[in-house]
Amino acid sequence: MSLTRRSALVTGGSRGIGAEIARRLAGEGFDLTIAARDPETLEQTAHRLREQTGATVNPVAAHMNDPDQVRALVRAHEDRFGGMNALVLSAGTGTAGTVADMPAKTYERMVDINVRAPLTLMQAALPQLRRSAAADAERGAKIIALASITGVAGEAGLAAYGATKAALISLCETVSLEESAHGVSATALSPGYVDTDMTAWKRDVLDRSTMLTTGDIAELALAVTRLSRNAVVPNIVVTRAGDQVWRA
Ligand SMILES: NC(=O)c1ccc[n+]([C@@H]2O[C@H](COP(=O)([O-])OP(=O)(O)OC[C@H]3O[C@@H](n4cnc5c(N)ncnc54)[C@H](OP(=O)(O)O)[C@@H]3O)[C@@H](O)[C@H]2O)c1
Repeated sequence: MSLTRRSALVTGGSRGIGAEIARRLAGEGFDLTIAARDPETLEQTAHRLREQTGATVNPVAAHMNDPDQVRALVRAHEDRFGGMNALVLSAGTGTAGTVADMPAKTYERMVDINVRAPLTLMQAALPQLRRSAAADAERGAKIIALASITGVAGEAGLAAYGATKAALISLCETVSLEESAHGVSATALSPGYVDTDMTAWKRDVLDRSTMLTTGDIAELALAVTRLSRNAVVPNIVVTRAGDQVWRA
């Protein structure tokens, strides 16, 4: 393991919020594994990050609905970097639909990708995170998970998505309770609508200029990685400007 450079594994690191967090972390001196399904986009993002920051960036294709691929991803990070200072869980999926009408397949996919994969990733990565936390007496090691404001306050038409994100927020709290005495803590980031591919379906009814930016969220992720190991931040809620605090 390098004594000077830190490393992070960023799921969903090829596009959107994850790609911007990856860019900021690379600029901060982290070497990276970035993961997503589409190898071409991953490679393009990795190339861009190397050019912009000089960081070592290892793209690994992995589907979050397959626990074996998820565990192999964590092993690939260890093989390359020997430890993990930050685990960023940004891969996620969302489909709108009411409780009354949502097909089982649709909510099962959200549970698999938004809850099972993060839990599998945390389990698989904890040995590396603990080791890196022990080696960094100042900051420890961080888990940063992209939840959603719909996991904090229910929103009609987004119930299954919100339920998976509420579970993720709970998971972050619990892992901090269990691991923070040893320097590993988790933070959920819970934004309203962010202008990415994921919110393209919303652009007809919601002006893009009113959405949060990927930079807003990446700024907070970066701040979390700079905190001392004594500072545990369970959840950061980011709402959009306007007169309704708890809506997406
Ligand atoms: N955008 C918002 O308004 C918003 C608000 C609150 C929270 N969030 C959360 O923030 C996270 C990032 O969202 P985003 O807006 O950045 O989304 P995005 O622009 O659609 O990017 C999603 C990223 O995750 C990867 N991904 C998607 N499904 C995957 C799967 N099954 N297996 C592996 N990788 C997968 C994508 O690459 P591939 O397609 O190549 O796999 C891509 O890199 C999500 O967890 C989302 O729920 C988003």
